[in-house]
Amino acid sequence: MSPAAASAHWHPFQNMSDAMAPLVLTDADGLWMNSSDGRRLLDATAGLWFCHAGYGRREIADAAHTQMLRMHAYSTFGDYSNEPAEVLADRLSEFAPGGPWKIMFTSGGSDSVETAVKYARRYWQALGRPERTVVLSRRDSYHGMHTAATQISGIPANRNRYGDLLPDTRLVARDAPQALEAAVGELGAERVAAFVCEPIIGAGGVRFPPAGHLQTVAEICRRHGVLFIVDEVTTGLGRTGTWFASQKYGVEPDLLLCAKGLTSGYLPLGAAWSTSASPPPSGKTVRCSATATPTAATPRRPPPSPTSTTSTTSTITSFSPPRTGSRVASQAPRLPRCHRRHPDRAHRPGRHGLRPAQRLARG
Ligand SMILES: Cc1ncc(COP(=O)(O)O)c(C=O)c1O
Repeated sequence: MSPAAASAHWHPFQNMSDAMAPLVLTDADGLWMNSSDGRRLLDATAGLWFCHAGYGRREIADAAHTQMLRMHAYSTFGDYSNEPAEVLADRLSEFAPGGPWKIMFTSGGSDSVETAVKYARRYWQALGRPERTVVLSRRDSYHGMHTAATQISGIPANRNRYGDLLPDTRLVARDAPQALEAAVGELGAERVAAFVCEPIIGAGGVRFPPAGHLQTVAEICRRHGVLFIVDEVTTGLGRTGTWFASQKYGVEPDLLLCAKGLTSGYLPLGAAWSTSASPPPSGKTVRCSATATPTAATPRRPPPSPTSTTSTTSTITSFSPPRTGSRVASQAPRLPRCHRRHPDRAHRPGRHGLRPAQRLARG
């Protein structure tokens, strides 16, 4: 009997009748992996696009080991927090394009997407616009395998045959800003909550955007007050020469999603970044909430560059703004840019981006 047939392990993304002789990887160092049949293989894909720092990083394992013995995890629901979560959120908030950011930790890329989709709807509810529910995304996109992520992904093989998993979503053509504009026009901007896209489509074929495309769609979102959500799960954290592909293409999203390279796969962790500090409808400000908690608590180091080879020697808390970063962080929490510029002033917040009642609730 072949190993696969004997094994209880089912592979995601595989017809198991075709997985009768799996490639079993046993150990790895740097860029190289060894397999159980004695081969040494170059990991040209960095795992599933997650292993930015390479395999066998003792400093990451040591930091995780130290933190796990100190306190391996705790919920950050409510008023609870822990040092690694605070340190990492503060560091991350400093170096993505735009901002200032609020960071909610997640358990991975799909979870970041779920969080963002929920956030977008809740955001509009909080502003008294519950009819803004529709989430637009692109054909050929991939956003993960959880419920909302499956629904908004645009690869038919991944999306079809589950029925409608989430109401009020719509796919638009991949590289056609006019398709986005038409969808918003047809639905009515007042019904559209958000547009989600990968800056570079990954699983759907590694498709780079045409020149100016992302800036055009970002501008369409702003003009219609639609939240612009950029899924940087594969492109983020140094994969495209800047920390985020959004910087490469000159766009500033309202929400930015990452995972994978955040820990290089050493632990499951993702993040949903929001430029908004506007509280959810409960009236409380969510600082961060984690189903997975970062475990490395090391002191700050000088900023690594995403293109520098030394960046890979940093632990997961050692990120800093790239040298080219020029953003000046303001202390005041702000609404997403699209809303700040949107002419619909009826729902505009007061000073500090919060409506008076919300400010009171924060104390
Ligand atoms: C663009 C994008 N978004 C989301 C995901 C889902 O991430 P995860 O596998 O960590 O759930 C992926 C995974 O490859 C991805 O490429």
